[in-house]
Amino acid sequence: MPELSQDTKKIAVMGAGLIGTRHIEGVLAEPRTTLAAVIDPSDAARDATRANSLPWFASLPEALAESRPDGIIIATPNRLHVAHALEAIAYGIPALIEKPIADHAEEAANLVRAADAAGVPILIGHHRRYNPIIGEAKRILESGRLGTILVAHGSFWAAKPADYFKIEWRRQPGAGPAFINLIHDVDLFRFLLGEVESVHAMESSAARNYEVEDTAAVLLRFVNGTLATLTASDAASSPWSWEMTSGENPVFPQQRQTCYQIGGTTGALAIPELKLWEYAGAPDWLQPLRAERVSVTPADPLMLQLRHFCDVIEGRAAPLVSGEEGLATLRVVEGIKASARTGRTIVLERSRP
Ligand SMILES: NC(=O)c1ccc[n+]([C@@H]2O[C@H](COP(=O)([O-])OP(=O)(O)OC[C@H]3O[C@@H](n4cnc5c(N)ncnc54)[C@H](O)[C@@H]3O)[C@@H](O)[C@H]2O)c1
Repeated sequence: MPELSQDTKKIAVMGAGLIGTRHIEGVLAEPRTTLAAVIDPSDAARDATRANSLPWFASLPEALAESRPDGIIIATPNRLHVAHALEAIAYGIPALIEKPIADHAEEAANLVRAADAAGVPILIGHHRRYNPIIGEAKRILESGRLGTILVAHGSFWAAKPADYFKIEWRRQPGAGPAFINLIHDVDLFRFLLGEVESVHAMESSAARNYEVEDTAAVLLRFVNGTLATLTASDAASSPWSWEMTSGENPVFPQQRQTCYQIGGTTGALAIPELKLWEYAGAPDWLQPLRAERVSVTPADPLMLQLRHFCDVIEGRAAPLVSGEEGLATLRVVEGIKASARTGRTIVLERSRP
């Protein structure tokens, strides 16, 4: 573990695209961090970074020749995460790696082993876990108020515009709504409901005919017996996704709708509304259900994640989403892809690297 220190942390951001730009804004806005470097070889990133008078470098070694960051945020395309994280680990720099940890579980397991062996912390960017809505949902589930959790459903139904697909890697295997979007929902379901035992999935690319799917339907069985469904489409004009309902990212106009429903023997919970449904007496479908809305103070989970990354760099906290957690979530998504490919139910390997 690094030594405890409360100095401002110098953070480099590698990959200044869609999410990298939000990380750069976050690092600039957070009093505990300064921006050490923007690392991205593209002309667009160089021009935008220089136009904002920020330090730009084409590679990590070039940035290191100028100054050494205390931590690095890796926001490059999925297939580059492992190579970039291994580079950071070789220099002993703690890394916040955007999700998915890798685009193959084998590579992710190698990365987790390398980070462990070097004693360099890595944190995986499943940032929704920091959202106070999810914290409260977890508290409600753990309180036992819903009884035994039997069933859950989650939807990622959203309409990505044609422009989104101008970037080539987003049309190719390794991208697609299962790897890019549903992985967040899978991670939250693992966080809220427990470890996944098996998955069965179907995919379709009927809307756009790209190599990657645009639509998927997934059945999940959890080790504790809970059954769940997750459905995803990035071509469906609908308000039912975390992105559209949670209000955590201001680029998405918020809809007061639900994207996750969790049902237990004594109650049900709708998320992100945090609407809790119960009977006054013994559960009975002939009696009226009453609903209570639990309120939380909203907070930006990306900023909370960044503060947690500072704590991890300082050695005050163990990563909330460790490499092992990122790997376990990736294994579920790989299981989904394998099931859709083979038509078989996939029993998941236990997630030890
Ligand atoms: N946490 C979230 O909610 C969230 C949201 C969007 C994307 N992501 C993840 O973030 C990653 C990036 O996604 P995006 O949509 O921002 O992609 P993007 O294509 O918009 O940006 C990627 C950037 O990486 C740069 N890059 C490519 N090769 C590089 C290299 N060798 N060194 C440094 N930079 C390099 C590209 O020039 C580009 O600017 C993906 O893994 C994606 O899954 C996470």
